[in-house]
Amino acid sequence: MQVIAISNRKGGTGKTTVAVNLAAECAARGKRVLLIDLDSQGHCAVGLGVKASGTAVHRLDGGA
Ligand SMILES: Nc1ncnc2c1ncn2[C@@H]1O[C@H](COP(=O)(O)OP(=O)(O)OP(=O)(O)O)[C@@H](O)[C@H]1O
Ligand SMILES: [Mg+2]
Repeated sequence: MQVIAISNRKGGTGKTTVAVNLAAECAARGKRVLLIDLDSQGHCAVGLGVKASGTAVHRLDGGA
């Protein structure tokens, strides 16, 4: 298992953009990916088109 953390104290530097696209590319290459967004803005979910559901955990493959 490989862990990749994307962090920068400065705002608006592309952290979320890199995280979402890196996760998508890894998944497209057949990797099992867990994307964890520790920012309360929840912009990773927005970037992936996930609607708010009252839970902090979202599965993108349709599973329960
Ligand atoms: N490589 C890039 N080239 C041009 N624009 C980019 C690039 N990466 C991100 N952006 C743009 O920069 C803006 C900030 O990106 P993003 O939201 O990913 O930053 P962030 O570090 O996650 O911000 P925050 O600190 O608010 O969470 C967005 O409008 C995004 O589309
Ligand atoms: Mg962000």
